[in-house]
Amino acid sequence: MRLKGKVSIITGAASGIGKATAEKFAQEGAVVIVCDLNIDVVNEVVATLAAQGATAAGYRVNVTDRAEIAAMVADVKERFGRIDVLVNNAGIVLDAQLAKMTDEQFDKVIDINLKGVYNCARAVIDTMIAQGAGVILNASSVVGIYGNFGQTNYAATKFGVIGFVKTWAKELGKKGIRANAVCPGFVATPILKAMPEKVIQAMEERVPMKRMARPEEIANVYAFLASDEASYINGAAIEVTGGLTL
Ligand SMILES: NC(=O)c1ccc[n+]([C@@H]2O[C@H](COP(=O)([O-])OP(=O)(O)OC[C@H]3O[C@@H](n4cnc5c(N)ncnc54)[C@H](O)[C@@H]3O)[C@@H](O)[C@H]2O)c1
Repeated sequence: MRLKGKVSIITGAASGIGKATAEKFAQEGAVVIVCDLNIDVVNEVVATLAAQGATAAGYRVNVTDRAEIAAMVADVKERFGRIDVLVNNAGIVLDAQLAKMTDEQFDKVIDINLKGVYNCARAVIDTMIAQGAGVILNASSVVGIYGNFGQTNYAATKFGVIGFVKTWAKELGKKGIRANAVCPGFVATPILKAMPEKVIQAMEERVPMKRMARPEEIANVYAFLASDEASYINGAAIEVTGGLTL
């Protein structure tokens, strides 16, 4: 078990990659803190993990709500004593080409995907510094390296969270804290539900492996990066694309 006893907060953990990451972390022995918007779904994930013998706790946390995040962090510290890992996974898309994008679409994606990551990292960092140890992992994307048609708002956030980890790696490395980003290509999750089947098929055709990633294949990378096996990986943005960008 590579994450035995590591208290790990995962945002957006009720669906897709976040849920798969919660399951993987539980299999690796972590104490899993499941955070998401809908408390009923959060509780379902926690119950599944607990039934498999894991220690897990669930919280309704909107990553745009600093008071809600602070309350969760305080309660986790009270119950489990420390915070070892933060996976900033929560994210949304609201796509439109620049000429058609509304201010609301732009602001909402920035609020959740960029400011939400800052909010959660800011809320745990004093604890990690006091411990002299911690790992922060941010959900970026290939779109955060290459940009993407129709994703002015999303691309800015996914570039931004790579900027965060490069900065935090420089600031916090000497304090025993590592920060890295994961950049998936296309992953079969509900976030793609707005995409027409034809577009998805065309995407798969562009990948040398001729398929999308399964959420578990991204969760495996988060688990590795959170573990001590990745003890010298800091400030990296790791592409997990099946070769999409070659
Ligand atoms: N699926 C892909 O192809 C893909 C590719 C690259 C990067 N990503 C990134 O991976 C992350 C997870 O994506 P996914 O595909 O699993 O999506 P998903 O839609 O299946 O899951 C996202 C989760 O985040 C939660 N969430 C949304 N807004 C939130 C908020 N304000 N506060 C707390 N939770 C919130 C949702 O409720 C949902 O459970 C996202 O950051 C996404 O941008 C996904």
